[in-house]
Amino acid sequence: MQFELNGRPFSFDGDAQTPLLWVIRDHAMLCGTKYGCGIGACGACTVHLEGDAVRSCVLPVSAVAGKSIRTIEALSPDGTHPVQRAWVAKDVPQCGYCQSGMVMAAAALLVHTPKPTDAQIDQAITNLCRCATYQRIREAIHVAAEY
Ligand code: FES
Ligand code: FES
Repeated sequence: MQFELNGRPFSFDGDAQTPLLWVIRDHAMLCGTKYGCGIGACGACTVHLEGDAVRSCVLPVSAVAGKSIRTIEALSPDGTHPVQRAWVAKDVPQCGYCQSGMVMAAAALLVHTPKPTDAQIDQAITNLCRCATYQRIREAIHVAAEY
């Protein structure tokens, strides 16, 4: 099957039930998208499907045939997406493991809700961070909303 991955056509000939996460990591060799839980709970595997944040560990690759997927590697050509700049400004990451998923979730949120409240952030971003960077994430999203 074919889909668009970071703006380019990508073909996958394996099992159609393969989770998109493993196609991205093991076949496209893009390792910015992380594996955390594998059951759709943590959000470490968040990518954009047609611009919306989705959890790629529970999404069979067959579900994205003909569609557009974007991973953290293509959020911006040079790391200057407003969310990335805000993440740097607020020094958000601790260990960093959850952060690509957080950034992708935040970027999708701001497309639909350009000036989110704390409550809207909490409702939209249900990703988990074992280092508990939640407060800095909220602050950085508010910063990104001003860029
Ligand atoms: S690895 Fe996908 S939600 Fe946790
Ligand atoms: S920064 Fe360590 S899990 Fe989130």
